[in-house]
Parts: sequence; C-alpha cells; structure tokens
Amino acid sequence: MQPILDIADLRKSYGDGFEALKGVSLRIEPGEIIALLGPNGAGKTTLISTVCGITTATSGTVAVGGHDIIRDFRAARSMIGLVPQEINLEPFERVINTVRFSRGLFGKSPDEAAIEKILRQLSLWDKRNNQIRELSGGMKRRVLIAKALSHEPRLLFLDEPTAGVDVELRKDMWEIVEGLKADGVTIVLTTHYIEEAEAIADRVGVIAKGELLLVEDKADLMARMGQKQLDVQLSAPLEDVPEALAKYDLTLCDDGRTLTYSYDTRAERTGITKLLRDVSEAGLVLRDVVTRQSSLEDIFVGLVHEEEEAAS
Ligand SMILES: Nc1ncnc2c1ncn2[C@@H]1O[C@H](COP(=O)(O)OP(=O)(O)OP(=O)(O)O)[C@@H](O)[C@H]1O
Ligand SMILES: [Mg+2]
Repeated sequence: MQPILDIADLRKSYGDGFEALKGVSLRIEPGEIIALLGPNGAGKTTLISTVCGITTATSGTVAVGGHDIIRDFRAARSMIGLVPQEINLEPFERVINTVRFSRGLFGKSPDEAAIEKILRQLSLWDKRNNQIRELSGGMKRRVLIAKALSHEPRLLFLDEPTAGVDVELRKDMWEIVEGLKADGVTIVLTTHYIEEAEAIADRVGVIAKGELLLVEDKADLMARMGQKQLDVQLSAPLEDVPEALAKYDLTLCDDGRTLTYSYDTRAERTGITKLLRDVSEAGLVLRDVVTRQSSLEDIFVGLVHEEEEAAS
C-alpha cells in the first residue's frame, strides 16, 4: 500500500544554525494513529511544521499520499489538516464561520452538510452561532480540530491536543480521535502524556534532540511492558540455583543473594505463589520480595537519557 506519509532523511536547521531535525525518516500507512513522544524541544512541532509547509526543510523529502510537498504543494497540502499547539482563534468570530472560512482557504466549494457533520462530530453544533470568546478552553480546542477538518483532509496532525486539558476532556478527545480513525483519517499526534499514547496509538514514536529514536507498534511495546520481575532476596547467599527450583528459569544475581523471576503480568497464572512455596520448601530463608516493572515511561526515559549521555 502507498504510505499516506513518507518522510525520508528530513533535516532542518533554523536560521541561527540550530539543527532541530537530524535526518528523520518515517512511513505512515493510511488509517493509523501514531503518537510522537518527546521532551520539550525535541523537534516534534518542527517535524509537523515542515510536513505541513509552515517551515521548509534543509534537506530530505516528504510525500503525502504520493505528492511531494514541494513540487506538488497544493495536492499534498489539501490532504493535510493541522491542529496547532497554540490556540490562535479570532475571538469575535462565530464558530460556524471560522470553520467555513478555513474550508474556503483550501479552495473547496462551500458544503454546509460537511460543515454540519464536522461540528456535530465535535459536539459543537449547539455552539455554532456563538462567538469564539464565549467558549471554554476545551471547546476552543475542538474548534481548532473542526477548522483542521473543514476541507476533509486524509491526514490530521494534532500537536499536543490535550495539553492543559482536564482528564474528562482528554478522554473526550480520545473518543474524537477514535471516531476520526473510524472515518478513515490517519492521525499523527504529539503528546507528553504517555498514557495518551497507550490509550489511543497504534504506533508510538520517540523523538529526542531531533532524532527519531524508536517507532514501534504499541502492542509490541505493551508486550515488553507486560514483563515484570520478581526479586526474591535471600538471607544467605547461594552458589547456584537449587535443583528443586530449576524449572522456574531463575537468574541468580547480587552475589547469590537475589533470585530473579520474570513473568507476564497479563498471564492468567503468574506462577508466583508456587514459586514462593517451592523457595520455602527448598529451605531458603527470605529477606524480602520486590517486584519491578518496565513501563513505556521507563523505555521512554531510558531512551531519552541514553541519547543525552551519548551527546555529552
Ligand atoms: N523558529 C525557530 N528558530 C530557531 N529555533 C527554533 C525555531 N523553532 C523551534 N526552534 C528550536 O528547535 C527545537 C525544537 O523545537 P520544537 O518546537 O520542534 O520542539 P517540540 O518537540 O515541539 O517541543 P515542545 O514539546 O516543547 O512543543 C528547539 O530547540 C527550538 O528552540
Ligand atoms: Mg511542540
């Protein structure tokens, strides 16, 4: 299948010489939701701005639905919707007019049915004749989405759609995103909330200091996260794992003072009860039992940290 977005070795240096993107490559299939995670200043907005034609790349190529964003600017741009990180709305304009206006900017003919569908989908229909200044913060964010959808794009960028939004509204936003996906819209969102990526993304990308460090299926990441370790700390050190415990695939560490057991948190039977009973039957005396879990957050923090170490 032709990717909806194909970014190849994209580099961006700003006028002051700062290199905000250091050769990013990414292919996105139609219908995916992909979440880009990364610390402040990682280059997420720069990446999105470059794809959307707000800033120009220093080198590399971007194609949207097969249309090069430079050579075939209009075709590429008409397929893209952008919800910017900053709210930038005209306070005295009426909701429905801002959305109509955005559609017009793309040279699309007026289509009241399409506008109504978008406003209803975002629960803004009742507010269509209100002025922007009369809306709450969450409603304003939804107006930004309505504007971005006004020309019926196939690829929607959401730059931190839920920054500063309360938990309830965040969940509403997730539902909206799922609804758009069901309509066949491909979504790229940036976020600082790891649980947001967990909740809605099909794939997760981690970006730090202008480099895409990882892009992975969420399910695979979750499978890694599903692993948990149980450390059985012993009063007296062991030379080897006792024969009676051989079937558990334990590792002996900490100078023979800790037996480590890995298990899948999602499994019906983790085997912990049996293990602890067998440990005690083998005559070992426990000092303490500790569990550890690798989370998406650990993976994320670990990656970003490694990157910082390598750079220094
Ligand atoms: N117009 C500009 N001129 C010079 N440097 C810029 C410009 N815009 C962004 N940068 C720099 O590029 C880097 C990446 O910025 P960017 O806005 O892409 O980060 P981000 O990942 O979106 O961060 P955040 O999570 O804070 O939104 C930062 O160091 C920033 O200072
Ligand atoms: Mg940003």
